[in-house]
Amino acid sequence: MSILNNNPAAVDASAPELLLDQHVKYIQALDTKKNDLEYWLTEHLRVNGLYWGATALQILGHPEALDQDQIVEYLVKCQHDNGGFGGHIDHDPHILSTLSAVQVLITYDRLDAINVDKVVDYIISLQNEDGSFSGDSWGEVDTRFVFCAVMCLNLLKRLDDKRLDIPKTIEYIVRCRNFDGGFGSSPGGESHAAQVYVCVGTLTILGALNHVDADQLGWWLSERQLKNGGLNGRPEKLEDVCYSWWVLSSLSMLRRSHWIDSEKLTKFILESQDTETGGIADRPGNMPDVFHTNFGICGLSLLGYPGLVAVDPVYCMPRHVIQRIGLTDKH
Ligand code: FPP
Ligand code: ZN
Repeated sequence: MSILNNNPAAVDASAPELLLDQHVKYIQALDTKKNDLEYWLTEHLRVNGLYWGATALQILGHPEALDQDQIVEYLVKCQHDNGGFGGHIDHDPHILSTLSAVQVLITYDRLDAINVDKVVDYIISLQNEDGSFSGDSWGEVDTRFVFCAVMCLNLLKRLDDKRLDIPKTIEYIVRCRNFDGGFGSSPGGESHAAQVYVCVGTLTILGALNHVDADQLGWWLSERQLKNGGLNGRPEKLEDVCYSWWVLSSLSMLRRSHWIDSEKLTKFILESQDTETGGIADRPGNMPDVFHTNFGICGLSLLGYPGLVAVDPVYCMPRHVIQRIGLTDKH
């Protein structure tokens, strides 16, 4: 069975080409930039960065471009005794880096390298009385962390852990839903497309999408497309390549991805490529980074760009990996 998209989409003839080889080289070079200030300023995001880089390479069809054994060895060093992973060696554990580490280890089929029971204990320890999740022991609460917890437990096949309160988890997400159909980062928080992705993703994994008015939310999401084809995260904001992922994956879970103009969005993402260095920026003309490179490439995969490996809209991981671990494709 092919790991590519089943029905590749047609691409506007005036759109630039995907600079596949340059993006592979751009990602490979990221770890060699130790003389750049930015490298050190983003130290706390090293594990997240590995997830973005490794995922982009998988979707580009070049999983071998990074040394997987070396990455696994590094990730093992980021796990703490309480089971959580830090954003780098000796950094405090956080649910964001814990999810990224688990996603990479599952993609590489190397869960054997870590203590999975402890990861589960760590995640469960972060659930609060009202069903929400904290990001770490300092207690910040955000719908992102609910999604990280639910996704991580599902990837580890531990959603049936009796200590997890699923009804309260769903209840909390529903409390973050707004009059416009969108979701915010906490109850009463403004609707934001990335928060929509994490809330719709949580409800999809928990089989609770019935709490969403798909037509109303689909309308709000499709309103995110601007004249130049790019998508923004909220009304009146600028377009940004990463919203190609947050918006389109949400529409895909709601089965309404045809509600935006995919040819125009494809062109916008391709125009945001850096033709000199490789990599993709948040919008045309800006500096590329690995975050926007990953979400641009994953967005192109969701759009059916020819030759790319199919991405799963819930997990933002290769679809063949999600199928390999037996999580059924319900969307
Ligand atoms: C906005 O970023 C992004 C979010 C709020 C969602 C992030 C989601 C996760 C970390 C969950 C895991 C994700 C995946 C793909 C597995 P921002 O603060 O840059 O937004 P802005 O555009 O408003 O600045
Ligand atoms: Zn962005």
